Formats: sequence, structure tokens, C-alpha cells
Amino acid sequence: MSTVIPVSADWLTLRESADADSRSRLLALRAGRMLRPPLVVHDLGSGTGSMVRWCAPLLPGPQTWVLHDWNEALLDHAARASARDRDGATVTMRTRIGELGDLRENDLVGASLVTASALLDVLTAGEVGAIVAACLAAAAPVLLALSVTGRVTIDPVDAGDRVFEAAFNDHQRRTGGDRTLLGPDAAPAVAELFRSAGWSVRVDESSWRLDARSRALIEEWIDGWLGAGVAQRPALGEWATEYARARSAQIAADGLRVVVHHVDLLAWPP
Ligand SMILES: C[S@@+](CC[C@H](N)C(=O)[O-])C[C@H]1O[C@@H](n2cnc3c(N)ncnc32)[C@H](O)[C@@H]1O
Repeated sequence: MSTVIPVSADWLTLRESADADSRSRLLALRAGRMLRPPLVVHDLGSGTGSMVRWCAPLLPGPQTWVLHDWNEALLDHAARASARDRDGATVTMRTRIGELGDLRENDLVGASLVTASALLDVLTAGEVGAIVAACLAAAAPVLLALSVTGRVTIDPVDAGDRVFEAAFNDHQRRTGGDRTLLGPDAAPAVAELFRSAGWSVRVDESSWRLDARSRALIEEWIDGWLGAGVAQRPALGEWATEYARARSAQIAADGLRVVVHHVDLLAWPP
């Protein structure tokens, strides 16, 4: 198993409401119309269960969700929470610890729907290949939410925006040990894998649109965005410090708006 890359429950909690506001309800409702209850939904890279809390109320019940992650602490957190279906009934939840690159065809057999959120861009091509192969075998619709496209739009504009964006994207595609991540190339690559297997694919925009109401999230996101950019290109360190200072002042004055571009993707078999 590859080394588990830590994602904190605090970060997932901080972003949960922005994620919920951004995911495509259109695609989730469209997926729901393809399903016949009772539903078994497999959520890949579930973290603390943000996707089940958002998606279950859009789908008919009864529902059983199987949450997959390699991080046991996040799964424990998810198992303590609850979610309700469209009719208000409690969703049954199970957890499965494991590396998604080891997913096999049998693991998703019997699924009504497969979901993931904020996952694809942190995976390798091999892991994505294993997931797509398992989804093709399950022959159930697949809803993959919140994949970064690599673009950010910040108002007011700063000369550093495009420079740090490029450094961050290179960092996302970084090679770390045996892992070369897909980063912003992930969503188009996955769409192509499903299309070439004869599946239909729809893509919808699901960008974060952050303003003064999301001050803590903007601060944390800028910190992580710049940190990754500087890790990738250490020569940007001094500029990043100046940039962060200017952005902090704008955040404090409620004068900053950030759009982090994402897409959601729904794929379904012929
Ligand atoms: C950015 S978080 C998103 C969590 C959740 N889907 C959400 O929307 O809040 C990515 C999740 O995928 C999990 N993950 C990443 N790579 C994985 C892998 N190769 N195998 C299993 N889980 C993985 C992480 O532990 C983390 O919980």
C-alpha cells in the first residue's frame, strides 16, 4: 500500500459548506433518475462523509452507503455522523479501509451508484485506471464531483496570480516517490476513459465562489495554495510572503473574492 497522504478532518469540515454549495445538483438529480431503490452507493475517498451528507437527500431511499478511504481516522469520523435520504429516513453507512489503487472489479459489483468528491486530482493514473475498470464492471452510473481544473480567479487581480497558479498546478502533478498525481489533468482523463468504453459523460461546472462569508476558508486555501507553489518553486518564497501579506489585508477588509474552478462529471453505461 502507498503511504497515506494525510488530509485533516478539520480541513474537510472547513470546506464542507463551500463544497455543498458548489457541487452540481443537476448531475446528482440526473443520476437519481437513473436509479431504482433500494440503493447501494459506494463513495470513494469519502473522508469524513461530506458527499453522503450532501447527496443522500437528493436521492430516493432506502439507501446504504459504503464509504471507502485509506485513512482510518477519517472513516471513524464519518461513521459517527449520520445522513438522511430524500424522504428523511436515516441512511445505513458502512466503511471500508483500503487503497483505491487496489480496487478490483468485484469490489463494486451490485452498486447502484458510485460517487467521489474532491478525489480525482490527488490520484495517480494507475489508481484512476483501477477505479474506472471497477466502475465499468459494476455498470452503474458514476458521479465524480469537485475535480480542480487548475484555474483560479481572484478579484482584485494581482500579477502573482498566474505565477502561483502555475507553480501550484506543477506541484499537484508532482512525482512523489512512486506516485505521479494527475492534478488538473484528472477530470479530462477520466472522461476520456469512460467515453472510450462507450459510456455517456456529462460535465458541469462546480466552482467554489468565495467571498467575505468564507473568510476562514479563503485564508486556509491561500495558505495551502502558496505553500504548495513555494514547495514546487522555492525561488518564489519571498514573493509569496509579500503576496500573502497583501491578500491578508484584503481579506481583513472584506475585499477579496476567489473562484476556485472545479468540474463535476456524471458517466453512465450504454
Ligand atoms: C480531499 S479529500 C476529500 C474527502 C471527501 N470526499 C470530501 O469531499 O470531503 C480526499 C480523500 O481521498 C482519500 N484518498 C486519497 N487518495 C487515496 C487512495 N489512493 N486510496 C484511498 N483513499 C484515498 C483521502 O484520505 C481523503 O479522505
